Amino acid sequence: MKLKDWLNVNREVFAQRDLNFLMSVLMDRKSAGFTDDCMLDDSDMDYLLSVKNLYSEGYPIAYILRQEQFFGLDFFVEPGVLIPRPETEIITEEALDIVNKNSINFVLDLCCGISCIAIVIAKHANKSLNIFASDISRQALMVSRKNIDSYNVPVRLIRSDLFSGFRKESFDLIVANPPYVETDYIKGSLSFEPRIALDGRSNGFYFIEKILRNAHKYLKSKGYLIVEIGYNHRGLLNRFIENTGIYDIVKWIKDYSSYTRGVILRLK
Ligand SMILES: C[S@@+](CC[C@H](N)C(=O)[O-])C[C@H]1O[C@@H](n2cnc3c(N)ncnc32)[C@H](O)[C@@H]1O
Repeated sequence: MKLKDWLNVNREVFAQRDLNFLMSVLMDRKSAGFTDDCMLDDSDMDYLLSVKNLYSEGYPIAYILRQEQFFGLDFFVEPGVLIPRPETEIITEEALDIVNKNSINFVLDLCCGISCIAIVIAKHANKSLNIFASDISRQALMVSRKNIDSYNVPVRLIRSDLFSGFRKESFDLIVANPPYVETDYIKGSLSFEPRIALDGRSNGFYFIEKILRNAHKYLKSKGYLIVEIGYNHRGLLNRFIENTGIYDIVKWIKDYSSYTRGVILRLK
């Protein structure tokens, strides 16, 4: 069968973005010059059938293909680690901006997952940095190792329950995308991803608040904290800032639909 015939038969099964992604991964498996007019061999047919079957069961395409794009880079992912999201690219862009425009040296990607934030910062910063990435999940750290090695960037990995593995006053910038989904919302397609990466307890604010309460001890003087938050967390966060007076709000970060999805804070 030719690839174009397989596509015609199976087009309805896949979302367009996922089909494009599958085609780009298939092209990478094949030699240069392979087009949709070429014949698929037995191993291609077996591969496409297994992809289609898993996809039809609801598996995210990134887990099936073991790959996701983030900030224009390819990252290895597997079931058991979070698939990075577009809103985190916006948070990462803001972190890069802070790094490039300020006197920043020590950076921590807290709750790093596959270390996509740390790796993008390491690759795109306009200066050399001391970058650390930490997570409580052993599997996240193993996947991080793979991604860090494949980009050959100087990111140091630490297994740590939030800040437990760090010394006080260590960082100029801490960027965190912690678990912040309300427990009751973890269903449907989200149930394929690890609960430890998603579950922010009843109102989703549990880890965000823990980070806010503790990050200031691990920041150097006038250090920055950037946190990704749920679309309904701005009020809770604002109240925390007003009540504690630890940080100044530098900027609320909005996503492509204009929901507030992150904040840049600075130690007073
Ligand atoms: C929402 S995911 C973010 C992953 C990655 N930063 C990204 O943006 O794709 C949250 C991460 O926090 C980690 N995590 C959960 N509880 C933690 C804890 N107590 N200490 C450190 N990391 C934790 C999870 O293992 C998961 O990798």
